[in-house]
Amino acid sequence: MVKLSPENIAGFGRQPLLACHNLHESELFTDAALIDLLDNFPRQYLYALTMGSDPGRSDENRLALSDGVSGADLLRAVKRGRLWLNVTRVDRADRRYRLLIDQLYSELTTQVPGFMPDSSQGTLLISSPHVLVYYHADGPASVLWHIRGRKRVWVYPALDERYMDRNLLEDIFAGVRHEYLPYENVYDEAAVVYDLAPGQWIAWPQNAPHRITNLDSVNVSLSTEHFTRQSRWRARVYVANRFFRTRLGLRGLSTREEGLAALMKTAAYRLARKAGLDNLQTKQHIPLMRVDPDSPGGVVALEYVDSAKARN
Ligand SMILES: [Fe+2]
Repeated sequence: MVKLSPENIAGFGRQPLLACHNLHESELFTDAALIDLLDNFPRQYLYALTMGSDPGRSDENRLALSDGVSGADLLRAVKRGRLWLNVTRVDRADRRYRLLIDQLYSELTTQVPGFMPDSSQGTLLISSPHVLVYYHADGPASVLWHIRGRKRVWVYPALDERYMDRNLLEDIFAGVRHEYLPYENVYDEAAVVYDLAPGQWIAWPQNAPHRITNLDSVNVSLSTEHFTRQSRWRARVYVANRFFRTRLGLRGLSTREEGLAALMKTAAYRLARKAGLDNLQTKQHIPLMRVDPDSPGGVVALEYVDSAKARN
């Protein structure tokens, strides 16, 4: 199902790469399967987002509520409107996706020497033609399995201060800010750009910033995240560095994931956290819209919904 070339095997996790799969032939991603999944999916884990069209304006991202909207209407809103559905932890909600993700990772681990994730998870992405995902970096390492439609993905150099301030990555690891990052067009000169078709997947080094624009079609992709000993250490080191930066003003601490310094720093942070010295406030999206398949854009403002209810 997943076949890697010798170059892909050497580059997995180290550089951006493109390869093939056959998930687009699976029955799990047809309209009927998606409607069934959405009808049964716990909606508190489904994030419907709408957005503007300028990749530099991540402030135009809006979360829309979807409770009470049927799976068929959600899909209709995606097809007609300007929506991005994040069906998070789809592997927890439906065992068939869990098995599929296990299968994908088992094929990766048998081909990539030394790749030993201890866990993985998946988010199904269902999105309208022409919508975008703003420039951002994710904490965990991830793989994007593209299944339906066409999309363009820009991948930027990982852990390079010219494209992402390390303080922002510390905040992302700590969960105190959204993943969106300040973006400038000139960054594109350093990007690797992929136009993805069904049956292709891409991966990039952990924390590499990226952004996406759908081309002229409805898109379905599966985003998987995996956790390894090394990726967990990176998260620990960045969260500890953030603590010492914000509490003690220590800047430019080492980001090395191995060695005694990393061990001592993360152990000290763990004690401080236990002592209640770092009560992190997790950043949450505030819903401002509601999904409405009959509205242009597929959403209406919540204040409009409230005032319409008050009139009736
Ligand atoms: Fe991402």
